[in-house]
Amino acid sequence: MVSPPQVFDPLRLRHVFGAFPSGVAAVAAVVDGAPVGMAVSSFTSVSLDPPLVSVCVAHSSNTWPVLRTAPRLGVSILSAAQERAGRQLAGRGVDRFAELAWRTTGDGAVLLDGAGGWLETSVEQQVRAGDHDIVLLRVHDLDADHDVSPLVFHASRFHRLER
Ligand SMILES: Cc1cc2nc3c(=O)[nH]c(=O)nc-3n(C[C@H](O)[C@H](O)[C@H](O)COP(=O)(O)O)c2cc1C
Repeated sequence: MVSPPQVFDPLRLRHVFGAFPSGVAAVAAVVDGAPVGMAVSSFTSVSLDPPLVSVCVAHSSNTWPVLRTAPRLGVSILSAAQERAGRQLAGRGVDRFAELAWRTTGDGAVLLDGAGGWLETSVEQQVRAGDHDIVLLRVHDLDADHDVSPLVFHASRFHRLER
């Protein structure tokens, strides 16, 4: 007999999921003339051919329904020096772009200056997955500088890599 699906305390799930270290990325675009964006730790590379990456977005996000209307989304892989930007881009009721240096591509993707890598993307597919959506993003342009140290997210905290 197959046992029924387990129900877990969300805190326990967060505790265990948070044991897996990740980077932090900013997904952002200009919408109606203003930059819109959010911090994500769920950024993952997916496919080389075609070039695809993914992020997972909570159904509770107010920003994602606005952001996804943009034809191009910028993904900036935050550097160790961008911890403040990482916090600010997740803040509620704040100007998420205050004092941040950013630029736009011709198609309105927003990229943060000083990021260790960036990708210009568009939404390829969105798949419902529990209380999140898995968003597949097609890559249109990209670059990275491996000399820039990344911001690391582990156990609900920001960290830096030791050299
Ligand atoms: C380090 C970090 C990583 C985050 N990663 C994600 C993520 O992968 N997916 C997500 O939906 N929200 C993530 N968030 C939360 C969003 O940045 C944002 O705070 C949330 O969507 C609520 O804002 P909103 O209602 O404007 O969307 C993360 C926040 C932080 C600080």
